[in-house]
Amino acid sequence: MTRYGKLIGASLGPGDPELITRRAWSALQSGARWLYPVKKAEESSYALSIAARGGLAIPADAEQLVFPMTRNAEVLAKAWARAAARTVELLAAGRDLVFLVEGDASTFATFGHLARVVRELAPAVVVETIPGVSSFAAAAAAAEVTLAEEDETLAVIPAAYGIEIIDHLLDEFDTLVLMKVKPLVDEVIDLLERRGLLATSCFIEKVGAPDERIVRDVAGLKGTQVNYLSLMLVQNPKRVRGELRRGCRRRRESAGSAVA
Ligand SMILES: C[S@@+](CC[C@H](N)C(=O)[O-])C[C@H]1O[C@@H](n2cnc3c(N)ncnc32)[C@H](O)[C@@H]1O
Repeated sequence: MTRYGKLIGASLGPGDPELITRRAWSALQSGARWLYPVKKAEESSYALSIAARGGLAIPADAEQLVFPMTRNAEVLAKAWARAAARTVELLAAGRDLVFLVEGDASTFATFGHLARVVRELAPAVVVETIPGVSSFAAAAAAAEVTLAEEDETLAVIPAAYGIEIIDHLLDEFDTLVLMKVKPLVDEVIDLLERRGLLATSCFIEKVGAPDERIVRDVAGLKGTQVNYLSLMLVQNPKRVRGELRRGCRRRRESAGSAVA
């Protein structure tokens, strides 16, 4: 019977190596073979750069896995199958693998899908996920914005759901985190202007990296290029909230009832 190595998803935080947890740091130094994601073969890896900036020497046998940024289902399926098959092949040699994840491994990360497919191919593989600092937690801290206080509501969504959904969610949540905002920046700015929320919005790019950018005048971003590693924090102080029931707010039962 094959004795597989363990598959470890090590969250490295969003860019500042100081935000690598002690557990992820230990995993990187455990002798496990490193695997890191790239969008194209031989392209640089953001996750790998975090470990390198932390002062770790990249092991000579560290291996890249290609996860292309495409919506072409066929190309994606092939790439995923190749990455998972290679991971299982390496695990079958008996050595642990540590997969380097930017941000947190359970938050919009490649690792979750990779681990699922690996388990389908080899159910005996043990998977460990090391949690970490997500991009939006670090972004909020860097921008000195609180994500939620007391009974405030918070939603984290990919901006690709579109302007109508974002517009609707602004009525439901005190804070919205718009991940993967790059393709919609201009449209989001127009919406924020219409809703009078420009002053309570912030754009954060490559948080924790040497070229981090925090933009509070978000309207000034219109028509400019932004990096894929960027997000927006939008707060809606005008939101009408419901009442709390036993510590939770009760929704208004009728339009005429009092609002807390
Ligand atoms: C595939 S998701 C990865 C999320 C990551 N696992 C996390 O925990 O934040 C990529 C999106 O996360 C956000 N992101 C990731 N790293 C970031 C960073 N350093 N600065 C700002 N946004 C970042 C961006 O919205 C980007 O489009």
